[in-house]
Amino acid sequence: MKTSTTSIPSTEEFFASVADKSNAAESALRGDYRHADAQYVVQQDWDAYTPEQHARWRRLYQRQLQLVPGRACDEFIAGLTELDAADAIPHLEQASDTLFKATGWRLVAVPGLIPEHSFFEHLAHRRFPITVWLRDESEFDYIVEPDIFHDFFGHVPLLLNPVFADHMQEYGKGGLKAMGLNGLTQLARLYWYTIEFGLINSAQGLRAYGAGILSSGGEIEYCLSSPAPRRIRFEVERVMRTLYKIDSYQETYFVIDSFQQLLQDTAPDFTPLYAKLNGLPALPADSLLSGEINLPTS
Ligand code: PHE
Ligand code: FE
Repeated sequence: MKTSTTSIPSTEEFFASVADKSNAAESALRGDYRHADAQYVVQQDWDAYTPEQHARWRRLYQRQLQLVPGRACDEFIAGLTELDAADAIPHLEQASDTLFKATGWRLVAVPGLIPEHSFFEHLAHRRFPITVWLRDESEFDYIVEPDIFHDFFGHVPLLLNPVFADHMQEYGKGGLKAMGLNGLTQLARLYWYTIEFGLINSAQGLRAYGAGILSSGGEIEYCLSSPAPRRIRFEVERVMRTLYKIDSYQETYFVIDSFQQLLQDTAPDFTPLYAKLNGLPALPADSLLSGEINLPTS
């Protein structure tokens, strides 16, 4: 289902564009892309993980697990429990079966970051790409590129929630559409401030649902209790105008009331919104506009 009229970048163009965005001296992506198929899918060679890697997974998992109560939303905790992945790096096919029974989503193994078009295609078909490699010990607390711990622990639990799962598919379809509308910058900001760094109100108080928060040892506490960042009611146009930080904790979090709200507020046709926002300057990540309320840290 290709709705985009943009030409699809070749693998060479993909690597070149990644190199452009990185200031590392040699900026090759770190995964092994040699055996990837046309959709960038690989086999997860589960037997190749070392005992050290499984042990590191357990330590990462246990650290996050004890931070999650009272900080992650209930839907995330329910999904995490059902996935039962504490003991070893998960077999993606097994987890995929659990997920498929819950919401009709599947997991596919990928070598690492993949081109936008392939990413959107997977989501639009209810497939979530999971990086196969695990971070090194030196990256235990902080990693730049997403690894299997971020992708699995951060993203998969909420894909067991039917409303969030539907939203994720709509996002994928919206991505394919945005490619033909010069809307990818705005759409990426939406992804960042919701799926990666979103907060949600609950009867018990503010909770995190973004994968970037929930897979982080530090930001999971910071986002809820630090007085430094802004916490602002979620509003699509405001989010799409807002720049974001990729190498520090967020300066602003946007707060939804429910996943139903996320699904509904992102349902309208974004075509006129992209046109409008492409003519406006973006807002700095630490903006608080007049009339906006910086929500208290419950
Ligand atoms: N409604 C958006 C559009 O028309 C698509 C979309 C849905 C984007 C959900 C993001 C999330 O382009
Ligand atoms: Fe992510």
